[in-house]
Amino acid sequence: MKVLIKNSEALVFPDAAGRIADHITCHQTATLGLATGGTMTPVYQELARRHREEALSFAGITTFNLDEYVGLSPDHPKSYRKDMNDRFFAHIDIDPQRTHLPAGDAPDPEAEAKAYERRIDAAGGIDLQLLGIGINGHIGFNEPSSSLGSSTRIKRLAPSTIEANRRFFERDEAMPTHAITVGIQTIMRADMIILLATGERKANAVAAMIEGPVSALCPASALQFHPNTTVILDPAAASKLALKDFYLAIHPRGEDQDLL
Ligand code: F6R
Repeated sequence: MKVLIKNSEALVFPDAAGRIADHITCHQTATLGLATGGTMTPVYQELARRHREEALSFAGITTFNLDEYVGLSPDHPKSYRKDMNDRFFAHIDIDPQRTHLPAGDAPDPEAEAKAYERRIDAAGGIDLQLLGIGINGHIGFNEPSSSLGSSTRIKRLAPSTIEANRRFFERDEAMPTHAITVGIQTIMRADMIILLATGERKANAVAAMIEGPVSALCPASALQFHPNTTVILDPAAASKLALKDFYLAIHPRGEDQDLL
């Protein structure tokens, strides 16, 4: 894993957006794996700005999001489909037909999960996968105890995930309890992975992911087996890393030049 510790939170998002922009400029028909969650908002804003002001084009790009809440229709105000449309897809020149999320309101969610995995395969797999991480170490909605060999399926959300995501719902609104999520093996098949984490509340999960044993207790630790993963952190998210000084010696200020 390449571990980049930036000097501040504000430097994390343009770095990630710049990597995605560079990738799609070189590979105009790339397939991107996308995430939702608060961490991604500034990344999508920066990509939309580059589209507006620098003519970055998504016209040939295909996207697959990681997950969707079971029971929510695509036009439900809290669905991830609506969130992605409103926050990102509406602001770029992507072909809506090439943007994919699992259908949360599918009559048979298990069948939809399997079909989603097949759709990713039929597209040739994911070239570049963008990830956040939950405070319990989840990636996508692969909660602790997930099989590290899993493919797309239904997962029950952990209590800490429901609590963390409650902020996106109205005060008295019922929170979905299950999601369709791509699996850990699905994520591991991506050619390249970029994972972002900021803030002190992610520090334990980040340390377990990078330095802990590979374990279903921290599903993100499976990424230790991925050959091309870059983790971009702010100082708070990196604060519990035992080898922090070593990572900073290799990549001063979190800049991506190998000084091996
Ligand atoms: C959602 C997803 C999740 C989030 C994680 C962090 O599509 O992939 O794994 O990345 O829950 O969420 P935030 O960024 O809100 O802390």
